Order: sequence, then C-alpha cells, then structure tokens
Amino acid sequence: MIQIAIDGPSGAGKSTVAKAVAKRLGIIYVDTGALYRTVGYYVRSRNVDPKDATGVEALLPEIHVDLKYENGMQIVTLNGENLGDRIRTPEMSLYASAVSAIPAVRAFLLETQREIARRNSVIMDGRDIGTVILPNADVKIFLTASDECRATRRRDELVAKGISTTYEEVLADMQKRDSDDRNRAVAPAVAAPDAVEFDNSWMTPEECTDAIVKLISDKVGITV
Ligand code: DC
Repeated sequence: MIQIAIDGPSGAGKSTVAKAVAKRLGIIYVDTGALYRTVGYYVRSRNVDPKDATGVEALLPEIHVDLKYENGMQIVTLNGENLGDRIRTPEMSLYASAVSAIPAVRAFLLETQREIARRNSVIMDGRDIGTVILPNADVKIFLTASDECRATRRRDELVAKGISTTYEEVLADMQKRDSDDRNRAVAPAVAAPDAVEFDNSWMTPEECTDAIVKLISDKVGITV
C-alpha cells in the first residue's frame, strides 16, 4: 500500500497530474477538494453564509458525503445524489474555500479521507494532505506554478466547460482564494517540511507527470 500526497494552490495542475500518475501506477486518485465543494454546495442551497462558522456547523448533521469509485472515476455524493459539475463553478470554489476554513468542517471530512487511504493505495490531492491528513505519506509533493500560468489554465478549463469568464476575473478570484487558504488558522495550505516542491510553470502535463512518476519510483522503489 502506498500513500502519495500532492498539495498546492489552485490551478497548479494537481488534479491533471495526479490522475495521470494514478493511472500509470494503478492506484486510486482522490480529489479532496470535491469534498469541501460538496459541503459548500449544501451550505449555499440552505442560504447560509459560508463564513458563518456556527451556522455552517449546525448544518453538518444534515450532510452525508460519500466517496466512491466507478470505473476508476471518483464519485462524491451529497445525501445520495451525485452533483457532477455543479460543484465546479467559480462560485462553488469560493464557497468551498470559505467552509474549509471552519475547523468543524475539516474535522467532519477528516475520517472520510483517511479511511480511503487506509483501504487503498492512493495519490491524494488537496491543501493539507502532507501536513494533516496523511502525515506519514510515502511521498509528499507541493506543486506550484506562477499566478499567470495558473490563472490561464483555470480560465481555459472553465471556458471548456462552457462557463464564461475572463482571465482577470479568474486571476483575482484565484489570488483571493489562495491567500485565504494559505493564511487560515487551521490546516493552512502550506508545504509539509518533508515535501518536495515542484514548480511546473514551464512544463507540459506530460513532463510534469513523468518527473513525478520518477520521483515516486526513486523514493518508493517501485518500477513503472
Ligand atoms: O482543490 P479545489 O480547488 O477543488 O479545492 C476547493 C477549496 O477547498 C480550496 O480553495 C480549499 C479547500 N480545500 C482544503 O481546504 N483542503 C483540501 N485538502 C482540499 C481543498
């Protein structure tokens, strides 16, 4: 069983690379941001301010978030319903970031994440995987890229999904969200002391995947 943690700011390419690495190594890719997005979605649907810690905490007993896999694809359900791309909007990014700063929300989602890593070999992407969720992960990577690269990638992703937005809008939202995630009191989005930091601004997704697969095989001694 192996555990690989990939943390870093939004738009650094964590999910693209982690998905490709998972495929190459034959292990499970866990997108933990989807869990926070799902909680954010519920909070929005109940018209509660995502920064209102007491209000959000009061909703948690009504929320059942489940993580499962179908044909290697992660499915997150909210009270039995698969929300699909409804959790992928810019608004849900901000809701997810706001609720993720609430300690009760982090505690609520902790066991779901650890449980999946106990039962499977995983590559898990998020903000606090190497620092909090899997502190003993075999390999920890902190993936970054310049603000310009990350905003361009995120804009292209959103436009491809039919969500109309501009580079400036994406850049501003992204910088606010990253600063909130990095500066929050609980589980801030920072590199673990034993993480390998990786700037992929000038790499293609394939080059970055190759470099990370090499890093993992060197560290864990597996051949791929
Ligand atoms: O990875 P993402 O963009 O889907 O994450 C959405 C938000 O969820 C992110 O801004 C911060 C929060 N998050 C977190 O706090 N911890 C994680 N492990 C994953 C996401």
